[in-house]
Amino acid sequence: MKKQPKRIGLAIVGAGRVGLIRGELAARHPQVDWIGIAEKIPERAKLVADRIGADFVTADFRELVARPEATAVVVSTDEHLHVDPILASVERGLPMMIEKPLATDLAESAGVLAAIEKAGVDAVIGYTQRFRRRWLVAKEKVSTGQLGDVTMVTSRAFMNRLVAIDNYKRSDNPAEISPMVISGTHALDIVMWMMEAKTPVEVYARSVDKALGPEWKGIDGTGFVITFSDGSLYHGVISWALPVVWPGAVYSLEVGIVGVEGVLTIDDTHRDIVLAVNQSQGEGYAPDQTRRVDFLTSYPVGDMALGELRGPMREETNSWLTRLALGLKTQHAIAAEGHNRLMLTKAIDLSARLKRPVKLPISPEDEKRTA
Ligand SMILES: NC(=O)c1ccc[n+]([C@@H]2O[C@H](COP(=O)([O-])OP(=O)(O)OC[C@H]3O[C@@H](n4cnc5c(N)ncnc54)[C@H](O)[C@@H]3O)[C@@H](O)[C@H]2O)c1
Repeated sequence: MKKQPKRIGLAIVGAGRVGLIRGELAARHPQVDWIGIAEKIPERAKLVADRIGADFVTADFRELVARPEATAVVVSTDEHLHVDPILASVERGLPMMIEKPLATDLAESAGVLAAIEKAGVDAVIGYTQRFRRRWLVAKEKVSTGQLGDVTMVTSRAFMNRLVAIDNYKRSDNPAEISPMVISGTHALDIVMWMMEAKTPVEVYARSVDKALGPEWKGIDGTGFVITFSDGSLYHGVISWALPVVWPGAVYSLEVGIVGVEGVLTIDDTHRDIVLAVNQSQGEGYAPDQTRRVDFLTSYPVGDMALGELRGPMREETNSWLTRLALGLKTQHAIAAEGHNRLMLTKAIDLSARLKRPVKLPISPEDEKRTA
C-alpha cells in the first residue's frame, strides 16, 4: 500500500487552555511542519509559542489565516468568539477544527453553517467525548441494533460549580452562559449521536437558579425531556452547581439506553479512582487547592501524565490531523451536527424560560422569545 500523506501547516486561533493542548499535540505530529498562532493576550501568546515552538505569532487572526503556509485551522477562542475566525478561514477554503459550540447565537450559528456548506470546507466540531472507548462501544451496540429499537435514554451530568463560576467570571453577559449551551452540550451530543436515526420534535424543560443565581445571575441546572417523532424519549439533567467539596472536579455522567430488546448503562462518574491527600495540587479545569479528595480523570479533555496530555482530546486531535493528512473518515461531529446541538440546547433553555413545551427545531427568532 502506498500512502501519500499531505503536509499540514496549522493555524491556531486562540491560544488558551485548549489552543495550547492542541498545539502541543500538533507539534509532535509527523505531518505538521509549521504552526502559527493568533492570540490577543501578548504574554499568553509568548508562553504558548515558546511551549510549542510556533513558527509564527500574531495578535491578528486574519493575518494568521492569510499565511501561505497554513493548510488548516483550529478555532479555540472563547465560546462567543468563534464566528469571525471561522468566516475568515472559510474565505480561504481551509479545513477547520472548531471548538464547541459552533457559535453562541443561533442566527450566527446558522450563518456560519451556511458559509461552511456553501464553500464545501471540511469543518469538524470539538465534541471530544466521541473519542472515548466507552461511548464508541455504546455507539456500536446501538447502531448495530443490539438493543433493538431504542425507546428511552436518560443522561445525568453532574458538575462541580468551580466550572460554572469560572465561566461566569469570564463573561460580562451571564445570559450567554447556560449550563446546557456550555457543558450540557457534551452529554447531549453523545446521546443525540446514539439517536441520530430519529427526529426530535418537541422539548420540555425547567431550570433552577438558587445556588448560582444570587451572586452570578447564573443557572444552576436544567432538566428536560426531548420527544422524538416515533414517541421515543430522551430525558436529561445537568447541574453545574454541585458544591466545591464534591469530589468530582469537573464532569460526571451516567447514561442509560433502553431498547425493546436490551439495555445499556454507562457509569462515567469517575468514582472508581479516588485520590485523598493532605495537600492538594488541584485537579481539573479550574483547580482549587482547598479540595483534598478527588475522583480522578473527571476533566473531559484528559489528564497530564509524564509531561503530556493523555485522554480524549489527544485522540481527537491526532485523529483530525490524520483525517487532514490522509483524507480518512473519522467520527468527529460535523458543522451541521454542531449547529443542531446549539439549536437543541437553545430550545431547552427557551422551554425552561417559557415554562412550556417547545416544538423542534426552533428558529433564531424563537430563541429570543420571552413569551
Ligand atoms: N472539547 C472540550 O472538552 C473542551 C474543553 C474545554 C474548552 N472547550 C472549548 O474550547 C474553547 C476555548 O476554551 P478554553 O478553555 O481554551 O478558553 P481560554 O479562555 O483558556 O482560551 C481562549 C483564548 O482565546 C483568546 N482569544 C479570544 N478571541 C481571540 C481572537 N479573536 N484572536 C486571538 N485570540 C483570541 C483569548 O485571549 C484566550 O487566550 C471554548 O469554545 C470552549 O468551550 C472544549
